[in-house]
Amino acid sequence: MSILSSRSRFAINPLEEDDAIADAIEREGKKVIRLNRGDPAVYFPTPDYIKEAYIEAIKEGKTHYTETRGAEELVEEIISRYKRKFGLSTDPESVVVTQGVSEALYMLNTALLDPGDKAIVFKPYYTQYIPYIGLAGGEEYLLEYKENMGWGIDVEELERHVKRLKHKARIKYVILTNPNNPTGTVLDKKTLKDIVQLANEHDLILVSDEIYDEIVYNGAHFTSISEIAKGIPYIILNGASKNFDSTGFRIGFAIVPGEDKVSMELKKKLFNFASVRVSANAPAQYAVAEGLRNVKEHNKAIKGMVKEIEKRVNFAIKLLNENPYLQTVRPNGAYYIFPRVDLKSLNCKTDKELVDKLLVKEQVQLTRGSGFGMQSHIRIVSLPEKEVLGTAITRLNEFCRKMAK
Ligand SMILES: Cc1ncc(COP(=O)(O)O)c(C=O)c1O
Repeated sequence: MSILSSRSRFAINPLEEDDAIADAIEREGKKVIRLNRGDPAVYFPTPDYIKEAYIEAIKEGKTHYTETRGAEELVEEIISRYKRKFGLSTDPESVVVTQGVSEALYMLNTALLDPGDKAIVFKPYYTQYIPYIGLAGGEEYLLEYKENMGWGIDVEELERHVKRLKHKARIKYVILTNPNNPTGTVLDKKTLKDIVQLANEHDLILVSDEIYDEIVYNGAHFTSISEIAKGIPYIILNGASKNFDSTGFRIGFAIVPGEDKVSMELKKKLFNFASVRVSANAPAQYAVAEGLRNVKEHNKAIKGMVKEIEKRVNFAIKLLNENPYLQTVRPNGAYYIFPRVDLKSLNCKTDKELVDKLLVKEQVQLTRGSGFGMQSHIRIVSLPEKEVLGTAITRLNEFCRKMAK
């Protein structure tokens, strides 16, 4: 019998093994073009004013624990950001700073889920949602973003499932990823309004992961759930990793702005979770506080980064559209492209077979769609410079042509 808990089986990232193949190829002396990690700080240096604030915090001796909820000045800056951008009025009691959105997911799932409880998750999903639900003892109930609706949500279908499911299990929350990883879709206001109405009618908690909320382009407009969900319980997840280009700082946050009974209970419990793990990284919190406070520097940095991302994504799309075996919905947020692959024509049984062969033969690493719950797709991270992206996609297109023979 194993020493490990049965619960620990959920602590796995299904995409980890793919990295091992790439590492082995590089040990043989070949260079792999890695289009599999959504880490902006690898391609766009974290802005200097944020890095300097980090160093300054250390020099000033801010190396001690902060308030468990989060350093006061960071919490205040988070509140100001939401007031400034979305007109949200909230208070420090509604905010918890976490070690990345990842830790917020741990807290949230553990706070909400009992065995048998369901969380509604749309496929393709951000990979990490699933292990945290399992570890907390809950179960995901999977629906799909609709590819033929530009990866939007069919709210009527959602309602049918909610009505059916309600009689069998307790649905604790519905999680939305907006803008989306891995599809790059930004949800429209009408869809969000309809979902809020549905949540209100059926007493569902909405969780909105808005970690890419400033990485929006191709003329799209982002709407935060906080602009719409008045008077119902909802949670916003966000952080510094993407908008502030500092993934390695590990700063995220959860906001529960509601004043209703469920929100009040939840915000208190998240504070308890924060106090159990004591504090998030202190200098990183002060650096992110400066990142938020210095709106002028931030706007300069984010505008430059998003403009460049837009160019890179659209360049990649153009090349991908030359590939007759791929079908792509154009993204307008984040920096991922999620094409459907005609696996049959490429003589591949699975997306894993395709991705592994591409890696071994062409030294290009993509992510298989099954890591996001969709076996017929691949994900391409469009962060590298055009030259690198161009080489990688040209190799992918060539590879598909050879495989199809
Ligand atoms: C949709 C989404 N949510 C959360 C995260 C994790 O963020 P963090 O670095 O804050 O843990 C990511 C990272 O890629 C993501 O794509």
